[in-house]
Amino acid sequence: MRIIKSVSVMQKYILGLKSKNKRIGFVPTMGYLHKGHGALLRRCRKENNISVLSIFVNPKQFGPNEDFHRYPRDLKKDELFAQREKVDIIFYPSADDMYPKDYLTYVEVGKIAQGLCGKFRPGHFRGVATVVGKLINVIQPDILYLGQKDAQQAAILKRMIVDLNFPVRVKIVPTVREQDGLAMSSRNSYLNDKQRQQAPILYRTLRHAEGLIQQGQRNPRKIIGQMRAMILKAAPFKIDYIECVDAASLDPLKVLRGDILIALAAWLGKTRLIDNIVLTVK
Ligand code: PAF
Repeated sequence: MRIIKSVSVMQKYILGLKSKNKRIGFVPTMGYLHKGHGALLRRCRKENNISVLSIFVNPKQFGPNEDFHRYPRDLKKDELFAQREKVDIIFYPSADDMYPKDYLTYVEVGKIAQGLCGKFRPGHFRGVATVVGKLINVIQPDILYLGQKDAQQAAILKRMIVDLNFPVRVKIVPTVREQDGLAMSSRNSYLNDKQRQQAPILYRTLRHAEGLIQQGQRNPRKIIGQMRAMILKAAPFKIDYIECVDAASLDPLKVLRGDILIALAAWLGKTRLIDNIVLTVK
């Protein structure tokens, strides 16, 4: 396994691999790797000759009052994790190399970034799209692997790749969950024991919503109302949103039909948790 810390070295190395017709798979992360990343890396390794993992806590996607400084970091542990997953290259650039002092250019994302998390984290998806666009240009992967847990991020990046003609395919890998249903996330490490026991209610309410839909409910307001009540009864959550939207455009739905995404974000103490499910409704 090779660890490359410089953008220019990475670009040169990739050009060499491309000239040998290697198929390159890419998993972008902010590190503090968990089993969710493991699933992405395994899929990437299976489907490509070379698997590249980037670890970069991207300052441009954190708001001024967000958790950039306290975001968990552990490169040594991540290296061992990556080695076990047989990653070929870890790309671990510095913020100065990614964003030199004279840096000016951003990817502006349209209305798909305005609802859901975008409403509560202004500028977040602009930062995500910008860094992923840059990483795609540096790594030039054939396939980009993203997790379903970050559903809005995945929808936005798919859109960006089509709109800006990036020559890369995207594969979305299902959310990996703890045994009690909590979606794997690096931010789960912020939870204390009590909060950790309360957090799985989020996934239980998503499954409850699925059950209501199976019983014929098509009115999102009714479903969201029940979910909200369940969550607030279980623990002192502060809910940012619970929404039922079209799975591709992320437009809000008045009646549930087609491929839909039920997504939520809620705070438990100082930890913001997100989760979602995708369903096809006839
Ligand atoms: O999902 C993440 O960890 C980040 O948003 C990503 C895609 C690595 C961009 O910084």
